[in-house]
Amino acid sequence: MSTYSQQKRISIPDLRAMKGKAKIVMLTAHSKPMAQLLDAHCDVLLVGDSLGMVVYGMENSLAVTLDMMISHTKAVMRGSSHAAVILDMPFATYQESNEQAYRNCARATAESGAQALKLEGGEELVGTVEFLAKRGIQVMAHIGLMPQRVHEMGGFRAQGKEEDALSKWPKLAQQFEDAGAFSVLIEGTVEPVARAITESLKVPTIGIGASPACDGQVLVTEDILGLFPDFTPKFAKRYRDIGAMVTEAVGEYAAEVRGGGFPSLEHCFGVKK
Ligand code: KIV
Repeated sequence: MSTYSQQKRISIPDLRAMKGKAKIVMLTAHSKPMAQLLDAHCDVLLVGDSLGMVVYGMENSLAVTLDMMISHTKAVMRGSSHAAVILDMPFATYQESNEQAYRNCARATAESGAQALKLEGGEELVGTVEFLAKRGIQVMAHIGLMPQRVHEMGGFRAQGKEEDALSKWPKLAQQFEDAGAFSVLIEGTVEPVARAITESLKVPTIGIGASPACDGQVLVTEDILGLFPDFTPKFAKRYRDIGAMVTEAVGEYAAEVRGGGFPSLEHCFGVKK
């Protein structure tokens, strides 16, 4: 029996049922302490491959491995009991063939405890999503701006501006729904396209930089807390500057250590007061 099976988490059918009734709140989490802080407020915790940048300082997410994703997802599972947990499948772990995708997705699901997996792709991925869904893997399809295609796109550019966008993207999203995806995540895509997709699907859409028209929203937690000083995307709102608070607190600690103000007697063992 799984360690987690006694806990009552939001399930994948619960998320599907939220469409049209309540907005889905999703944030990224990569560690147990962060999951503990976010769990009660979120419907979904996404262990995003953005951890390559925000945790490991990589330039992009391409070198993130399945082992890294499984370890971080296990930590997030340990720190949460309410929100659904979704693992982001890293680059080159599912694109080669349906068999490779199933092998890696089954391993990710079984070892991490995550309820679902997120996979980035276009039409070429539809058959794989169908293959996985028919075999019990819960898939969130990620369309629009795809960070794993950074070199193909030549940077992170907003999507959905082409002439036929209003037919092209809803058609792709529909193909994913028909293939068995339980949700479609739309990243960095213009409002009319995100709206058209959301209105045409029965499954919920989650937006990131894709307007309030989506059924739910996700952001990278470090972006909303000021914990990733390198770059904040236009679509992310910084709710607090925790980074500045850390700098201030650490500055005080360093000054007290250097000045002899820390530790004081209350922080010492075996010293007579
Ligand atoms: O890796 C990630 O964090 C993502 C985003 C959708 C937030 O995929």
